[in-house]
Amino acid sequence: MTASVRIDRLLGNLGYGSRREVMALCRSGRVLLDGARVPSADLKVALEPALAARLTVEGEALDPLPGLVVAMNKPLGHTCSHDDAGPLVHDLLPERWRHRDPPLSSAGRLDKDTTGLLLLTDDGPLLHRIISPRSEARKRYRATLAEPLRADAAAVLASGTLVLRGEDRPLLPADLVVEAPTLAVVTVAEGRYHQVRRMFAALGNHVVSLHRDRIGALDLPADLAPGDWRILEPGEVAAALAAAPSPASDD
Ligand code: URA
Repeated sequence: MTASVRIDRLLGNLGYGSRREVMALCRSGRVLLDGARVPSADLKVALEPALAARLTVEGEALDPLPGLVVAMNKPLGHTCSHDDAGPLVHDLLPERWRHRDPPLSSAGRLDKDTTGLLLLTDDGPLLHRIISPRSEARKRYRATLAEPLRADAAAVLASGTLVLRGEDRPLLPADLVVEAPTLAVVTVAEGRYHQVRRMFAALGNHVVSLHRDRIGALDLPADLAPGDWRILEPGEVAAALAAAPSPASDD
């Protein structure tokens, strides 16, 4: 059954303003449904995909409905937090989206100095499905290292016995493909704090640069330049939740 929602509540939750401001918008005839002024802000509408094309606010199509999933190519130097002092990934999205409720959150944060595929969503259950260690959605990173990798690096990571500094629970097994002495592709199931950098530190190395290029079976879209983003289609969201083809495969 399709849920219905009051227009003032919907617009308020999408960040168009307080209930009062949204009521004023409707009263002034700047909110149209199927081309006609909405008679009242408490009119209920079915929350279905077609609504985004039927409802306009100040002459513009309605913002994406709840259930939004965005893929971003996170640039260097931006943080995934909502309120850090420096540049935020949220600064790269439309300003109004910052006022959405539920908010758009990163599904598996990337460090300020890590680049690549970042998913943001306002769908709480989906977010947990992506970041849960039980999820099939393993994350793949390309790491440039300061030192040549030790010969047993892949075996140690695959063993499921590596314990990070300051922790007592071993990491789940991770796949490592060594592409060059200081270039590795690692696929992990968990998302512990600074996990990949700390994994390589535990191997006596240091990550110089880190880039995430795959979540589950979803590759960083080739058309996304650093800082660019786009809304994912349902099939792409399903791919992010699916098992990756193979740890280092490019197809
Ligand atoms: N591991 C890290 O160390 N940093 C990230 O941003 C992601 C995974």
